[in-house]
Amino acid sequence: MDIKRVKLIYFSPTGTTQKVLDSIAQGIGAQVVERFNLTLPEGASQTIPPLSDELVILGAPVYGGRLPAEAIKRFRQIKAENTLAVPVVLYGNREFEDSLLELKNLAIELGCKPVAAGAFIGEHSFATEALPIAMGRPDDDDLAKAQEFGAKIKNKIEVLESPAVQEDLDIPGRFPYEGGVAAMAVSPVSKEDLCILCGTCASVCPTAAVTVDESVATEVELCIRCSACVKNCPTGARVWEAPAMAKVTNWLHENCAARKEPQVFGVG
Ligand SMILES: Cc1cc2nc3c(=O)[nH]c(=O)nc-3n(C[C@H](O)[C@H](O)[C@H](O)COP(=O)(O)O)c2cc1C
Repeated sequence: MDIKRVKLIYFSPTGTTQKVLDSIAQGIGAQVVERFNLTLPEGASQTIPPLSDELVILGAPVYGGRLPAEAIKRFRQIKAENTLAVPVVLYGNREFEDSLLELKNLAIELGCKPVAAGAFIGEHSFATEALPIAMGRPDDDDLAKAQEFGAKIKNKIEVLESPAVQEDLDIPGRFPYEGGVAAMAVSPVSKEDLCILCGTCASVCPTAAVTVDESVATEVELCIRCSACVKNCPTGARVWEAPAMAKVTNWLHENCAARKEPQVFGVG
């Protein structure tokens, strides 16, 4: 099969998934790369044309060893036939557990044939300078591995007669899936002395949980803890203050310091 175009479809609140998908696409070297960023509410409501006879890379972060519910909801609008898919998850150097299996199975449900899959590492959403967890990842080494993965996907597809002959991929994970994010009624807060009411926090929120007027208001029930508002705040005013989050972040910082490496499946 010849791949002229590749579609990247992703949910990526803090941008690490998007970065890795871009590098995989570079490695594949397709003439046309189309991006469908489903992260923001307006992105989620865009129409994805039905996929047919093409290659799609599906990307999402790992939340509690699973896919974020918001990502699943957004991916479900995809309709595909005779389409090869590469499921890719990004995790914050703890574990990816059942998430990649979940994304592979979702891709099949949507009508795709998974041809390869990968789990890459991204800076943890909760990481701070004081409590670093996989800071700066994906780094140059990770992105080189993502490109290499893309080149291997290209080589594999070139000798594949059709998506129909692609056999089922063996991906680690449990089924029924376990884990998932624990319910916690918490969200980041804005420190009034530092906040300049610029609205960045509202503009990067995937669930429209934040509104900025004369002060910043956050609907805690809508917050998915993605931390996009914290990472993008230009003045450092947006922070996590909830004690439960401090406990989690401390644990991750202490227990997930040893560097993990990307893992790829289906490409030898
Ligand atoms: C609510 C939540 C739960 C998370 N759970 C995990 C996890 O189970 N394992 C892990 O290694 N990283 C976990 N992370 C970290 C993200 O998977 C990681 O930072 C990823 O790179 C974020 O992707 P993005 O930059 O595309 O948003 C979690 C992050 C959030 C916000």
